[in-house]
Amino acid sequence: MPVQRNTTEEDITAEVLQRFAGTQDPRLRQIMLGLVKHLHAFVKEVELTEAEWFQAIEILTEAGRMCSDKRQEFILFSDTLGASMVVDLISHRKPDGATESTVFGPFHRLGAPELPAGGNIAHLDKTGTPTLVSGRVLDLDGRPIAGALLDVWQAQSSGLYDSQDESLSGLHMRGKFRTDAEGRYLVRTVRPVHYPIPSDGPVGRMLRATGRHPWRPAHIHFVVSAEGYEPVTTHIFDRTDEYLGSDAVFAVKDSLICDFVRHDSPTAEAAQLGIEPPFLTADFDFHLKPATEQGATVLDAQQRLAALGAAEG
Ligand code: BEZ
Ligand code: FE
Repeated sequence: MPVQRNTTEEDITAEVLQRFAGTQDPRLRQIMLGLVKHLHAFVKEVELTEAEWFQAIEILTEAGRMCSDKRQEFILFSDTLGASMVVDLISHRKPDGATESTVFGPFHRLGAPELPAGGNIAHLDKTGTPTLVSGRVLDLDGRPIAGALLDVWQAQSSGLYDSQDESLSGLHMRGKFRTDAEGRYLVRTVRPVHYPIPSDGPVGRMLRATGRHPWRPAHIHFVVSAEGYEPVTTHIFDRTDEYLGSDAVFAVKDSLICDFVRHDSPTAEAAQLGIEPPFLTADFDFHLKPATEQGATVLDAQQRLAALGAAEG
């Protein structure tokens, strides 16, 4: 008997699903079946033309070509399409008093220096307003966590990350800090500024073509971790920023908005660090929840990326 060939749009979807139905790993099977179902539904819903399909392939190819240890166009696509935040929200569903997470973004780099309390991550930034960010790392009962690690990174006052700044060759605006016996940390930096995400590639073209702006509200990135606790990947945002309501990557959560308070006269702490007015202080406590057996963290993901060839430094 001759083999029956697929002739309709429904037939082909059914056959592709059927080919994946025997996938051994149940999670992989679920993901592949869901992907095929929704991908085919999308193509049929918009009646994608051959020219549009080819354009999509070209865009993905260009995105791949742009990727390096300093540029991750696929993360940018995920972020600007809101997919990163949907994954984040699904992964951290229960409101439980722990500090909320938000996007990792494409600008984390391995190899940031360990700095003492009050260490300056912005030592090369001569134009930003000096800023002291302090607070505690606590458990869900408010008990201090000593020895917690805060991996901090931020854009310079120019709006560029070190990896985007051609005048720099090494790391800047990055540091790792440990909490003291009372769970306290202290980071010296400059005031965070709003900045546009990289727009010189396919993500930028998508934003322009759809009338969207590329701006992210002023923020500082943190990954906070401690033995026995679930790490949190998050930001703190400046409450006064004009882009809080329209972040290009949808990453703002109310609980992460923080006051950056201006000081026009000296304080003992600032004077001890040689900081003269005007300067700013921001106070933010992180609350970690106990570790579960859930496996991978974002930092693990970054370390895996590094193992695949993303260079340190
Ligand atoms: C960032 O905050 O570094 C970032 C996050 C998502 C996309 C682009 C930049
Ligand atoms: Fe950022």
